[in-house]
Amino acid sequence: MMETIDDLAVEGLRVLVRTDLNVPLDGGRVADDGRIRASLPTLTALKARGARIIVCAHLGRPGGKPDPRYSLAPVAVRLGDLLGARVEFAADTTGPAARAAVAALRPGGVVMLENLRFDAAETSTDDAQRGRFADRLAGLADLYVSDGFGAVHRRHASVYDVALRLPHAAGYLVRAEVAALRRLTADIRRPYLVVLGGAKVTDKFGAFGSLLGTADRILVGGAMAFPFLAALGHPTGTSLLAADQVDAAAACLDKAAPGQIELPSDLVVAPGLGGWGAVVPADAIPADQMGLDIGPQTAKRFAAALGEARTVFWNGPMGVFELAPYAEGTRAVARAMTDGGAFTLIGGGDTGAAIRALGFAEEAFGYVSTGGGASLEFIEGKTLPGLAVLEAP
Ligand code: 3PG
Ligand code: MG
Repeated sequence: MMETIDDLAVEGLRVLVRTDLNVPLDGGRVADDGRIRASLPTLTALKARGARIIVCAHLGRPGGKPDPRYSLAPVAVRLGDLLGARVEFAADTTGPAARAAVAALRPGGVVMLENLRFDAAETSTDDAQRGRFADRLAGLADLYVSDGFGAVHRRHASVYDVALRLPHAAGYLVRAEVAALRRLTADIRRPYLVVLGGAKVTDKFGAFGSLLGTADRILVGGAMAFPFLAALGHPTGTSLLAADQVDAAAACLDKAAPGQIELPSDLVVAPGLGGWGAVVPADAIPADQMGLDIGPQTAKRFAAALGEARTVFWNGPMGVFELAPYAEGTRAVARAMTDGGAFTLIGGGDTGAAIRALGFAEEAFGYVSTGGGASLEFIEGKTLPGLAVLEAP
C-alpha cells in the first residue's frame, strides 16, 4: 500500500518534496503554470501542518551541468505567488546554499532547490553515482514526499533512490493521478478511443503497440502522423518526420485491426511556421511544405468518433496550436471531448498547456494529468520506478 502525507507526522520536520515543475518558459517567464498549480494541494497541506518544506524539481534537460537558461529561479517566484508565501531559492542543489537555506527553515517555511539536473548524478544510469547524490539529498531532510507525477517513470536519484533512504509517502497529486489513470487500466467503458499527437514522437511509439491491445480506435495527429504517412508511401514534404520511426509505424499498421488506426485525410500545410496554411490531401503534401495541423475534414471525422466514445485518452496536440493558423485541429478535438459524454483523460504537459491556452476549463475534462510519458507508461501497465518505490516499506 502506498501511504500518503496524511499518514506522516510532519510537524517541525524537514520534508523533501519531489515535484514536477518542468513548465514551459518563455524568455525567463513561466508560460504555463499548470504543473505549479498542481503541486499546491500537497505544499499547502504540509505548510499548514508546520513542516519545514524543501521543494526539489528538474527543468528541461540541461545535460548534467549548471545552465542559467534552465534555472528554476523564475519557477520559485511563481510558486511563491501562488502559495501566497515566501519561497527561498537555493542557488545549488545539495551544496552550501541548499544546506544554509534548509538550516534557516522555520516550521511552515519553504525553500526550493536549484534544478536537480544541474548535477549529472541525478539522471545517471550508474546506481552508485545516483546513490551518492541521493545520500546528499536525503541528508537535507527527515522525510521524503513524492509528488512529481510527471517524473515517476524515471529511475532518477530524486525520484527513486532518495525514497530508499528516508521514510516516505505520496503527495496528493500522485494519489489523484494514480486514481484517475486506474480507470484506463481495468473495466474500461467502451468504445475506448485514444488520440495521439504531439512532437515527441519517438517516446510514444513504445506505447502504441500496447495501446492497440486495449483501445478500440487510435486517432493519430500532430507529428505522430508523419511516420504513418511515410510508411504508406506518401510524401511528407518538409514536415517534422521522425524517420527512424517509419518502420515502427509500419509494424503498428500491420498489427492493427482494419480501421483501428485512423490517420489524417487532410492537413494544413505551409512553407514554414507562421504563414497562413493551405489545406491539402494527407497523401499529397507538396515537397516544399510542412504539415502543421490536421485539416478540417479530419477534424470533423475525429470529432464524430469522439462523440460516440465512452472513454477517451488524449496525449499530444494535433498541430502547432501555439500559432493561431494551426490551432483548429487541436481545438476541434478538445471541443468534441468536452461536448461528449465520455470519461476523458488528458495526459502530457503540452496537451494540458494546449487546452488551457485555447481557453478550455480543466474542469470540462474528466482528468488532466500532469504526466505525459508517465501517464502513457502507467496505462501500458509498466512498472514506474517512482511509484514502485513508494509501495515498499
Ligand atoms: C516531462 O515533462 O515529461 C517530465 O517533467 C519528465 O521530463 P523528462 O522527459 O525530461 O524526463
Ligand atoms: Mg512505503
